[in-house]
Amino acid sequence: MPDSDLPAARAPLTDSFGRRIESLRISVTDRCDLRCVYCIPEDIAWLPRAQLLSLEEIARLARLVVSAGVKKIRLTGGEPLLRRDLPHLFELLSVIPGLADLALTTNGTQLARLAGPLADAGLRRVNVSLDTLDRATFEKMARRDALGRVLEGIEAAVAAGLRPIRINNVPIRGLNDHEVVAFAGLARERGFEVRFIEFMPLEHGRRWGTDVLVPGKELRERIAAHWPIEPDPHLDPHSPSRDWLFADGAPGRVGFIDSVTQPFCGACNRIRLTADGKLRTCLFSVREHDLRDLLRSGADDEVVLERIRAVVATKELKHHVTDGLYVKPERTMSRIGG
Ligand code: 5AD
Ligand code: SF4
Repeated sequence: MPDSDLPAARAPLTDSFGRRIESLRISVTDRCDLRCVYCIPEDIAWLPRAQLLSLEEIARLARLVVSAGVKKIRLTGGEPLLRRDLPHLFELLSVIPGLADLALTTNGTQLARLAGPLADAGLRRVNVSLDTLDRATFEKMARRDALGRVLEGIEAAVAAGLRPIRINNVPIRGLNDHEVVAFAGLARERGFEVRFIEFMPLEHGRRWGTDVLVPGKELRERIAAHWPIEPDPHLDPHSPSRDWLFADGAPGRVGFIDSVTQPFCGACNRIRLTADGKLRTCLFSVREHDLRDLLRSGADDEVVLERIRAVVATKELKHHVTDGLYVKPERTMSRIGG
C-alpha cells in the first residue's frame, strides 16, 4: 500500500507570510462548452489528454495536501462536468480523512444529467455560474444558447439535495448589471446564495476596465434600495465573500467577492492546481510550478510534499490589479480554474 493511503498528520503548509494553506482548488479540465466573454476566447485549443492529470494523480495530490492541513477542496474547470468519470473522482476524494469540505463550481449545463450521480458519489453542494436570466443576454455573454439547460440543471441540483444552491454572478456594466436586483430577488424566492464576483482582468483579450467593472459597494447599494440587507454576523475570515442577509428575514442571502476594489489577499489560504498539474499560489500568479512530471517520475510522497511546501513558500503577498504593477497571467481563467 503506498504510504499516501495513511492519514498521516504532517506539518501544516505555511507560506512565507505565515498564512496557512487550508484550501485547494483543482481544475479537472480546461475544456468548456460555453465561451464566456470574461473568461475564454471563441477559438481555443484544448490541452491534449495526455497532459491532464489522471483522476488517481489528482486524488494522490489531494491526499498529500490534506495530510498537511488542507481542509477544503473545490473542483473547477473549464467546465468540470465535462471531465469523464467525475463522479469517480468524488468517490476518491470524499473518503480522504480530514477533508472537511468537498465542493464544485460548474456552469450547470450538464447538471440535469449529473446532479444525482454526483450527490450519490459524495457531493454535498454546488456553485453554479449564472450571469443572467435573459436568454439573449446569456447568448451574448456565454456565446452559446444554453440558459434553458442551466436552469434545468439548477432544478436538478435542488432536487438532488445539493443545498443551499450558490449562484456565481459576474456583473459587467452595460451587459448584465441591470439584473442585479433580479438576482437578489432570486435569492429571496428560492433561498439561494447569490454571490456577485467583481470582474477581474483574467479574460482573453482586453475587455476589462474600470468602466465595465461594477464595484461591490455599488451593487450593495442597488440591492439595499429594494430590500434592506445586513452583514451576516457569522463570517468566515477566509472566505473571499462577504455575505449579507435580508433584514426582513427573507430566506437566501447575497454575497460579494470584491476582489478588485477590496482585495482579501491578507487572509488568503488557498492554492490552485491546474488540469495539467501545475501548482499556482495565486489566481493572478505569473509563475506556476509543475507537479505532473515529478509525479510521473516515481517520486515518493515525501518528495512530492516537499516540493509542494517549497512552492507554497513562494506565495505572493498580494495581487497588483489596481496598483499599476499588474501583469496579466498567460492563462485565461478557464485554464486557471476560477
Ligand atoms: N472575473 C471574475 N470572475 C470570473 N469568472 C471567470 N472569469 C472571471 C473573471 N474574469 C468566474 C466564473 C465562475 C468562477 C469560477 O469564476 O463566472 O463562476
Ligand atoms: Fe466556461 Fe466558466 Fe469560463 Fe464560462 S466562465 S467559459 S462557463 S469556464
